[in-house]
Amino acid sequence: MHVNKKNIFAPSLLSGNFADVQASIRLIEKANSDWIHLDVMDGVFVPNITFGHKMVNDIRKITTLSLDVHLMTIHPENHIQDFANAGADYITFHLEAATHCHRVIQQIKESGCRAGISIVPGTPVQLLSELLPFLDLILIMSVNPGFGGQKFIPQSLNKIETLDRLRKDNDYSYLISVDGGVNNENAASLRDAGSDVLISGSSFFNSENPELESKLIRGDK
Ligand code: DX5
Ligand code: ZN
Repeated sequence: MHVNKKNIFAPSLLSGNFADVQASIRLIEKANSDWIHLDVMDGVFVPNITFGHKMVNDIRKITTLSLDVHLMTIHPENHIQDFANAGADYITFHLEAATHCHRVIQQIKESGCRAGISIVPGTPVQLLSELLPFLDLILIMSVNPGFGGQKFIPQSLNKIETLDRLRKDNDYSYLISVDGGVNNENAASLRDAGSDVLISGSSFFNSENPELESKLIRGDK
């Protein structure tokens, strides 16, 4: 049994149209989504470059959906305040990109946002143990970060199950989020494993029927 499990659907703008962000946001809203996932890539922590806090600020003005900022940058501590000021609701940074993770979590909370941490597929979930009590969200990368449209790495399921068990056993309150290769075929197993937030880039935006894809990923009847 899962305690207080949420069912949050968060399409990732990465697979949307950067030349017409507004249309992509409207598509996300129309599909009954809960959050918008915003991938910030610096070309150093990951090979790709996307956008910075101005994009988040501009998006904040045109939607009321929660903005879920995923920082794939080195030195995340240098960017927290800018993204908080821009209107982010959640700010998630990478364990692999920060030395003083506990301090970065504090910094995010002091900025008024909810604090998330993410790990890449090669990082064991056990490395998060000292941070678990302080987190609002844990984002399990189920592909190597940097690009949309990659194949889901099945071992990610064990990480979700472990985090779900630890949450139950210790009364922790973090949400478990999954990012990478999520689609209507694997969503049910991810929800069953204990994930609360399903992020979808290519399966949502490349679908012929994004509204149906959203329904299927959420498991709506
Ligand atoms: C990848 C990003 C993801 C990406 C997922 O580094 O963090 O949010 O948009 O895309 P799909 O759903 O296509 O794997
Ligand atoms: Zn992401």
